[in-house]
Amino acid sequence: MTDDDAPYLRALTRFAGREPGRLTVPGHKGGTAADGEQRLALGPAAHALDVPTLIDGVDVVRGDDDVLDPLAHAEALAARAWGATRTWFLTGGASQGNLAACLAIAQGGARRVVVQRTAHGSTIDGLIVAGLEPVFVAPEVDERLGIAHCVTPASLDRALRDAPDAAAAFVVSPTYFGAVADVAGLAAVAHVHGVPLIVDEAWGAHLPFGDGLPEAALAAGADLVVCSPHKHLGSLTGSALLHLGRDVRGLDEERVARALRLVSSTSPSSLLRASLDGARRRAVCHGPALLADMQRALTDLRARIAWIPGLRAVDGAALAAVPGVAGHDPLRLVVDVRDSGATGHAWGRLLRELADIEVELCDEHVIVAVFGLGEDVAQTGARLLPALARARSRIAHRPRRGATSSPPRATPRLVRTPREAFLGAREPVAIADAVGRVAAEPVIPYPPGIPLVLPGEELDALVLARCRAAARSGVAIRGASDPSLRTIVVLAEDEVAHHDPAAAAVALA
Ligand SMILES: Cc1ncc(COP(=O)(O)O)c(C=O)c1O
Repeated sequence: MTDDDAPYLRALTRFAGREPGRLTVPGHKGGTAADGEQRLALGPAAHALDVPTLIDGVDVVRGDDDVLDPLAHAEALAARAWGATRTWFLTGGASQGNLAACLAIAQGGARRVVVQRTAHGSTIDGLIVAGLEPVFVAPEVDERLGIAHCVTPASLDRALRDAPDAAAAFVVSPTYFGAVADVAGLAAVAHVHGVPLIVDEAWGAHLPFGDGLPEAALAAGADLVVCSPHKHLGSLTGSALLHLGRDVRGLDEERVARALRLVSSTSPSSLLRASLDGARRRAVCHGPALLADMQRALTDLRARIAWIPGLRAVDGAALAAVPGVAGHDPLRLVVDVRDSGATGHAWGRLLRELADIEVELCDEHVIVAVFGLGEDVAQTGARLLPALARARSRIAHRPRRGATSSPPRATPRLVRTPREAFLGAREPVAIADAVGRVAAEPVIPYPPGIPLVLPGEELDALVLARCRAAARSGVAIRGASDPSLRTIVVLAEDEVAHHDPAAAAVALA
């Protein structure tokens, strides 16, 4: 098995190349029985390569005297590339990885876990599915930019001391804004407390492949790592990886595999799997050179953006002083727009209107762009820079804006587990009447997918104001039944009045 091989991708293309008779699912029959516009749009190859599992020649290849499993080989090559003992290909995104991670932890009979409060919504979904009770740990917050960074080892240590029965610690690195946590420090703390460190590295699939990039989570000692190569490495949307570390605490392969079975389709996409195999090969064989070129080009692009009045690109130097930040992801372009007098939302609208450019995220004070491995940064910049300059000319210069939307420092009070709140009797109430009530649904602005409200949290006026502001900004709201957030679903009064924590604990057991 060599790194320049892509065994699953190769088996799939060989199979399709034979033009086999298709008396199996999928019903599009390699495209011949698909909608005409669909066939034209997706092309013959996408249909021909879309095959079910357990196909002879794809999932089982018979050699002269042995039987090969191309998927197992592809996963083993991925494990070697990322430095894992075992890697699983996922087709339900990093979200599936987070669900599985929670279920893997819950199997030992665990009840409580320490979780970064700004975890992705899918981790919270995992807590609900697995019946875990989170003890939240707050990340450091950049008050000026209004964004949350990473959890420091000291904060994790305090949280684990306060929750000595916690069975694991869940953190995010890199963040949506490119801050990379001190994973080595966090792993050391988790291990002193005897628990595994689970890192949501959805945004860091490329980290092991470039010189001078921050250390990747597995290399830094994480025990279970969720990663999304579709974000930076060129695999198809929805593909992801789950990695088991080298010296895991209380976790083992069978436990993770069992958890994964619970959240996996029996019809995983062969296209997504094949794309993971190709993305891994490209990252291993060409990643270092491509990343070096991209880092140079992005440094240049950041400098050019700073020439546009009111704009400043946030780089590693700007993050170096932030506690708990060990590095900066160079593939993330975060532009601070506070000095421009307009919000990131307004900049995002102008870029769309004037140049048909979509950015990954617009927030009050920043816009965030994402670059993929091997992208021609100079070409992207040649479109982006004039568009930014045109947008600038449409914005009346106003004095510097202060941070009005910084994430809350204090963690809202969790008065029910997310699962209790999710399953309990519920009712919608006007947002103005929701102060003091217990949320029965999450409110998750998307992107970045970081929950403002979690099921089980007591709602206060500040957090409700943030929810309304997010809805007004036009960002998509996930989780809430009323995305306009004029109303919010809370636990029924009866449910709160009759809550018996002992009974609830039994119900969860
Ligand atoms: C930190 C983090 N984790 C998990 C996810 C979910 O990833 P996916 O969309 O691949 O399911 C995201 C999505 O943006 C994310 O930002």
